[in-house]
Amino acid sequence: MSINAQFPAWRSRRLRRTSAIRRLVSETQISIDDFVAPLFVKEGIKEPQQISSLPGVFQHTLESLKLEVDSLRKLGIPGIILFGIPESKDEVGSGAWDPDGIVQLALKDLKENFGDEMTLIADLCVDEYTSHGHCGILSQDGTVDNDATLEIYNQTALAQADAGADICAPSGMMDGQVSSIRNALDSNNHTQTIILAYSAKYASSLYGPFRDAVDVTIKGGGDRRGYQQDYANSREALAEIKADISEGADIVMVKPALSYLDVIAKARSEVDVPIAAYHVSGEYSMVKAAEANGWLDGESVMMEHLLSIKRAGADIILTYAAKQAAEILQG
Ligand code: PBG
Repeated sequence: MSINAQFPAWRSRRLRRTSAIRRLVSETQISIDDFVAPLFVKEGIKEPQQISSLPGVFQHTLESLKLEVDSLRKLGIPGIILFGIPESKDEVGSGAWDPDGIVQLALKDLKENFGDEMTLIADLCVDEYTSHGHCGILSQDGTVDNDATLEIYNQTALAQADAGADICAPSGMMDGQVSSIRNALDSNNHTQTIILAYSAKYASSLYGPFRDAVDVTIKGGGDRRGYQQDYANSREALAEIKADISEGADIVMVKPALSYLDVIAKARSEVDVPIAAYHVSGEYSMVKAAEANGWLDGESVMMEHLLSIKRAGADIILTYAAKQAAEILQG
């Protein structure tokens, strides 16, 4: 046997020679159809406000939100996820389920204007609406009361579905939140409302810029480690994902994305429902900051990151780079 048969020189490199060949053999494609754009709408402002830690992302008025959604729709982006910032907050976060709350008003307006051309996802949590910044109702000892919180999640789901949400996305990491919301929706004629569960949501420091975007500070310097997952654990993520599917989740999510590609890949090999991954605020901002310093080519790194999330097994990618990536993909 010649040494070349045993160690065939050029065997791999032949397939990398031209761009057309590389396209032929490429295993993973990213598409505009994979993207969901996170959008913020704020009560009581007259002009959209740029979020300084998230370059290119704004707190919208109802009017500027509509324009933004229209431009995303024209690019072919199939979904948006909405976060609301109320003018005033209270202990229980009642703005989250107020029929005249900012997200409900936005959902109504967008549904009226865009019908089913844009999938409207409503983040379902109360942290943007509570004075203490936690994702639920606090008990006497200052921890979040799981079961009392489920009650207000149910009300929020109904308010969102009534207003026109196609998908409710519970992000509070309370136990039993998916079955609780599914029951509430089903018994109120919202059997078609999809549940996208933030199933494996880690207590991550990568949410920093998001908290600027929604004006949230957790009172007393607290954190969410009492309900979000410890980033040391991956088996636990699979247990959470499977529990959510058995409770009725239609789509499950891993969040953040890039530090958790192993979790996405594991989930992909073990479950058959669509998997979403949230490329979170900090993951976006790091690239933007390095780009602004001239330290790396922001566009290329962003596309490499998004493709890696797809390669790991995500079907849906929530990303602040959705619009920019769609423009790049359109060429
Ligand atoms: C909770 C929620 C958060 C994010 C999405 N939904 C914040 C948190 O858990 O503290 C973070 C998203 C991001 O960082 O981009 N409503």
